[in-house]
Amino acid sequence: MELVRVTGGASLSGSVRVRGAKNSVLKLMAATLLAEGRSTISNVPDIVDVRIMNELLRRLGCSVTHDREQGVVAIDVPRSPGVRADYELVRAMRASICVLGPLTARCGSAEVALPGGDAIGSRGLDLHQSGLEMLGATVRLSHGYFVASAPDGLTGADIRLDFPSVGATENLVMAATLASGTTVIDNVAREPEIVNICEMLVAMGARIDGIGTSRLTVEGAASLHPVDHEVVGDRIVAGSWAFAATMTGGDVRIDGVNPSHLDVVIEKLELAGATVETAEASLRVRGPKRPVGIRVSTLPYPGFPTDLQPFVIALNSIAEGSGMLTENLFEARWRFVRELARLGAKVRVDGHHALISGVTKLSGAPVEASDIRAGAALVIAGLVAEGVTEVSGVDHIDRGYEHLVEQLLNLGATVERVEVPDPVDVVLHE
Ligand code: EPU
Repeated sequence: MELVRVTGGASLSGSVRVRGAKNSVLKLMAATLLAEGRSTISNVPDIVDVRIMNELLRRLGCSVTHDREQGVVAIDVPRSPGVRADYELVRAMRASICVLGPLTARCGSAEVALPGGDAIGSRGLDLHQSGLEMLGATVRLSHGYFVASAPDGLTGADIRLDFPSVGATENLVMAATLASGTTVIDNVAREPEIVNICEMLVAMGARIDGIGTSRLTVEGAASLHPVDHEVVGDRIVAGSWAFAATMTGGDVRIDGVNPSHLDVVIEKLELAGATVETAEASLRVRGPKRPVGIRVSTLPYPGFPTDLQPFVIALNSIAEGSGMLTENLFEARWRFVRELARLGAKVRVDGHHALISGVTKLSGAPVEASDIRAGAALVIAGLVAEGVTEVSGVDHIDRGYEHLVEQLLNLGATVERVEVPDPVDVVLHE
């Protein structure tokens, strides 16, 4: 079993480069399925989820090469791709569901395993299903798989999402590009990653109006063509570094991200006492001696991102005064709180609110990551804890953070990855 072992006390200083967003690249890779031929995606982060997506596309019959150093994935999509995404891969990465829309639109059928709930909440897929049905597909659940069928192709429709779901917006906009006629999708998500995929689809020959707004109008095309496209910089990874700089009283320049994608985050960090300077594709964050507690509510973009929620709780746990976090997207992100409590954080959860009373120091302890963001936030919390913090569940971190330990070392942290015997084996052996 692998751990990240952090020794607290360092104030981070230097610069980090952020590559493309996990939550964009996976969808761009799925979008290549819409056109026969070779597409390339650049600014691809070297993370495990990309490798899972490579494998998923290979099993659909694509030929995929990945230059991890250059951050380029080239995907050759055959004339007739396979249509089944197996449970084995979907359970490893929920984002696999994003092949449902493109496969149904291009191949007239798709079988994608249901990912099930995960560590941050129940995460329904009803909007993906009902949207595809409105486009004329039949979608049924059979033996744990979504089985979608549209043998005569999809037909444009007026769709209104009950909630601006990121995944449903992506699946439906991809599907609509090959539907006959016009599709209007109202109340769509407006995340920069949605803009990124819409721009890619337009470059592939799709006609989409309203990009970046709550209403997308898509004129279906008979076919699309392959494309070379760049992934938008990862605002969540950049935000994670901004919190790390603020919490450790550090001075960190973060390159490779559009700071306007972090407007609300920057506002909150400034309220916590950080000084933030922005440039075109970078920001510099200088932390205060000790941050001040902040109140944050998570919301769909342009609101405060739920994926930075654990960092807000971690910051508040060592801040002067008290802070509050209201989680409006995922009901079960609180598992992180129990782990942070092992470091001495004082957090009271009441419904979807967490009330945090700042303590002057956390104290290092073994903790376990339950999801990608919780994992990175526990490592950052370890930087402001006295002594040693050992974070297990490192596989979660590797799914979304490229070379986290190396980057932290470059910024002056005392941190290492270590291999230890699995505790269950040790106990059973005794
Ligand atoms: N929802 C439904 N029905 C649906 C779709 C969504 O009820 O058909 C609910 C979900 O249960 C959830 C809320 O809507 O409560 C938000 O879900 P959304 O569909 O917007 O999220 P997602 O597409 O499943 C993506 C990111 C998440 C990020 C959310 C919100 C990817 C691969 N994942 O998930 O990222 O938290 O949007 O911004 O893009 C992460 O990176 O660690 C992560 C969890």
